[in-house]
Amino acid sequence: MATRSATRAYRDEHEDAFAEGYFRRLGDAVVSSVGLGTYLGDPTDAVDDDYEAAIRTGLEAGCNVIDTAINYRCQRSERVVGRALERSDVDREAVFVATKGGYLPFDGDHPTDPTAYVTEEYVEPGILDPDDLVAGSHCIDPDYLDDQLDRSLANLGLETIDCYYVHNPATQLRERSREAVYDALEDAFVRLEERADAGDIGCYGVATWQAFRVPSDHPSYLSVPAVLERARTAARTVGAEETRFRAIQLPFNAAMPEAATERAHDGPDGPASVLEYALETDVDVVTSASIAQGSLADGVPSVDRRDDETPVQQAINVARSAPGVTASLVGTSTETHVRENVDAGAFAPLDDEAIGAVLE
Ligand SMILES: NC(=O)c1ccc[n+]([C@@H]2O[C@H](COP(=O)([O-])OP(=O)(O)OC[C@H]3O[C@@H](n4cnc5c(N)ncnc54)[C@H](OP(=O)(O)O)[C@@H]3O)[C@@H](O)[C@H]2O)c1
Repeated sequence: MATRSATRAYRDEHEDAFAEGYFRRLGDAVVSSVGLGTYLGDPTDAVDDDYEAAIRTGLEAGCNVIDTAINYRCQRSERVVGRALERSDVDREAVFVATKGGYLPFDGDHPTDPTAYVTEEYVEPGILDPDDLVAGSHCIDPDYLDDQLDRSLANLGLETIDCYYVHNPATQLRERSREAVYDALEDAFVRLEERADAGDIGCYGVATWQAFRVPSDHPSYLSVPAVLERARTAARTVGAEETRFRAIQLPFNAAMPEAATERAHDGPDGPASVLEYALETDVDVVTSASIAQGSLADGVPSVDRRDDETPVQQAINVARSAPGVTASLVGTSTETHVRENVDAGAFAPLDDEAIGAVLE
């Protein structure tokens, strides 16, 4: 797993190439504030090869955060992360690797008959009870997540996953009440606390799309304090001193600023956005879709671009500069793009005034 000493050694090796504030603490580890995402792309060998090259380039350039999920590209993204880590000269213990479980993943390619695949692979062996399946594709039952975590460890070729996210838990709200979803999350968290005790994961969290950045009366809303309370209860259930819930992942970029602006969570000092709430508690926020899935590749007009800063770098710097953000993920399977994205860290984070202009 990512260790305190190896991640600090990695920072010491790379920090001269970056401005202050590029490397940040995440639990015991020190991580780059630009991370590598692996969501987009077809499930093909050619895209695997591109991702492998991009990940290795990123690791060598000063990016030690990698994000994936078992369902991304039919498990190919996890497998290519594993391959890149194995073949890279960078010490595995210097890299913070996160993955997610919740969606039913295919295996290598889209099956011609998805229902038959799910029945044979998951239902008949007793891994998945069809009654626990929501929207035909999503399950957070503890036994199912156990199976998915084992598969992720195998795909990644790792002994320990640094952060395991429950993937888009708000999907459960399509067929369950909010209270039932909190209950289901608590059951899942108990299992993840146990897996942390077993050394299979370093920490866990939730990766969300809408849940934490919509108003509290929205059908997809989940409350950050309610989720964290369930994590603390789960820790008590397994006799842990404190919860291993550590990270929230959600979209944040200049076109999707709600993580900073939607004050939908009851914080100690009143209503708080998820980023404000995270600042007041011991939770790290990792942003997804940091360049709005490519649509901010031309930059952010409301912010002045600094000399030599490219439009993409400017968009990345907006995302990673917001108070409360630990790291911003940018997905790419293109080596030149990964270099450009990591080099965004050569610029100092934007000040509060510049961030304020984006969030207005
Ligand atoms: N709910 C969730 O859990 C969730 C949802 C979405 C994403 N995520 C995570 O967050 C990561 C980032 O989000 P994302 O991949 O959806 O969106 P993103 O990072 O905002 O954008 C990725 C897109 O931008 C392009 N791109 C990257 N660098 C570029 C550059 N320098 N110049 C021009 N284009 C560039 C990529 O194409 P190229 O490959 O051609 O560079 C890709 O099409 C994901 O990969 C995933 O790991 C999580």
